Amino acid sequence: MASILVLFHSQEKGNTRRMAEAVGEGAQAAGADVQLFNTNEGRLDVEVFRKVDVAAFGSPDYFSYIAGGLKVFLDDWCIARWADRNGLEGKPHGLFYSHGGGGKVREPLEKLFAAVGQQVGETVESSGQPDDEVLAACRKLGGELAQAAQK
Ligand SMILES: Cc1cc2nc3c(=O)[nH]c(=O)nc-3n(C[C@H](O)[C@H](O)[C@H](O)COP(=O)(O)O)c2cc1C
Repeated sequence: MASILVLFHSQEKGNTRRMAEAVGEGAQAAGADVQLFNTNEGRLDVEVFRKVDVAAFGSPDYFSYIAGGLKVFLDDWCIARWADRNGLEGKPHGLFYSHGGGGKVREPLEKLFAAVGQQVGETVESSGQPDDEVLAACRKLGGELAQAAQK
């Protein structure tokens, strides 16, 4: 069974969490095994990421940048990769973010996570609380990721 990690940060209003859950629903509906992890609730062990087939990363826009919890993941990932690249590089992944009206995080989000591997689908954006259209786009992304995991 294809495995997907949905790694996100959500702290303020649950906007990014709702998007993460929708990505997970889409992937699950397409037959994938889904793990959700909120970096506001802990620090992900990079070994979890190493083992999954695909990932999705979601962040709120914090000062036009990604949330600190996701940056910590990238730092951990980078250091772990120096020791053993196996399973840490070339990982297909999807991206999503929420913002309060600015949304300039898209550029650093796409640029930073490009190091992890090939992006799957379109980056999904939500201004404030995700509406039905945004949630449908998140579910679609989850389905695309589940498909990418089977290739
Ligand atoms: C510390 C902090 C910094 C923020 N900076 C920005 C910003 O630069 N641009 C923007 O559009 N929204 C900004 N916001 C708003 C959040 O991105 C937005 O409310 C987001 O949906 C919160 O996601 P969450 O509910 O999942 O935590 C900021 C919020 C916080 C708490």
